[in-house]
Amino acid sequence: MITDLEILADHPSPSLLFFVDEIKHNIETCLNWVGNDPDRLRMHVKTHKCPEVVKIQLSKGMTKHKAATIAEAEMLAMCGTPDVFIAYPMVGPNLNRLAKLIKKYEGTKFSVSVDHPDSATMLGATMTKAGLSIEALLDFDMGFKRTGFPVEDAAMDLYRKIASTPGLKAGGFHTYDGHNQLEHHADRLAELERVWGKIIEMRQNLEKSGLPVTKIIAGGTPTFILYSKLNIPGMECSPGTLTLHDFGYGNRYSELKPFKYGAGLLTRVISKQGPDRITVDLGYKAVSGDQPPGKRCIFPYNPEFEFVGHSEEHLMLKHPDAKKFNLGDSLLAVPVHICPTTALHRHAFAISQNRVVGKWEIVGRDREIGC
Ligand SMILES: Cc1ncc(COP(=O)(O)O)c(C=O)c1O
Repeated sequence: MITDLEILADHPSPSLLFFVDEIKHNIETCLNWVGNDPDRLRMHVKTHKCPEVVKIQLSKGMTKHKAATIAEAEMLAMCGTPDVFIAYPMVGPNLNRLAKLIKKYEGTKFSVSVDHPDSATMLGATMTKAGLSIEALLDFDMGFKRTGFPVEDAAMDLYRKIASTPGLKAGGFHTYDGHNQLEHHADRLAELERVWGKIIEMRQNLEKSGLPVTKIIAGGTPTFILYSKLNIPGMECSPGTLTLHDFGYGNRYSELKPFKYGAGLLTRVISKQGPDRITVDLGYKAVSGDQPPGKRCIFPYNPEFEFVGHSEEHLMLKHPDAKKFNLGDSLLAVPVHICPTTALHRHAFAISQNRVVGKWEIVGRDREIGC
């Protein structure tokens, strides 16, 4: 992290901070959890959206990435990543944007999720018209009820449909079990096992009938803890948050103790509101408001702060000895949920060994880059 906030005396607040050594440590720890085999990892870039972080991953041999948007996928292709999976249904203009992306970045292989026969038809027609083809992965809903086809036998018909649609190649399965956030390891494992056996059975049936299910891309951070130990052929684990880590997951899962905070926020005291109150410039335009008020960030060096109120540009705090703070004092905050917080900032100051070593652009936060 950063222990000397003085080094940021000339840097504006609120600002996003990336801690380079901790990010490298987290990436290496993820790799370690999959037996140092980068082929078993496909980390989601939604958390950092930042080319410099992608370059660290590439330098560790991690050549597979996951994205949620065309812009994130383009940011990855601009970094020269060879293999990008877009875990998002393509509809409307995104279909042609995807075709444009494939043509523009010939050095990158793109694949995409499909969870409905109509989606396969639309995607196949777009690819065929553009003279292209794309690998499509059947997206399963393991219980999150966001996207995905139910885990039932009819999914095999969808997989066959993908395989027989011109312009598409059936590449395997994808699933994101974001609902499975159960705190205790055994409960999380039981929830996973509730449907996992059926997914594997369908894979076996499809393969017996001559349709390979080469890969299964699965999970986020809470189930990475489980999937990383399963060692299923062709399985790629796709945590995102762990690149930067945050208080939300760190506080909830004891298994994540080896991970370190790779991101923080610089904020300053802007007003003193009596003997026990201060206001800092960390409104919910700088730290994500998707968490309940009072549970959006922590202050690792000032744990006595109590939440009073939050608005667009202000965070009001209570402290038993508020007079010790002066106007302009710098404070370090750590977000509870880093992914939407990153998206609120155009760049992050990169910090290593208490030195600012760069200004890293959050390129993938834009809705459009080129395509
Ligand atoms: C499809 C998909 N895969 C992977 C992830 C990464 O999950 P986590 O943030 O728990 O690491 C997410 C997060 O929202 C996601 O939506």
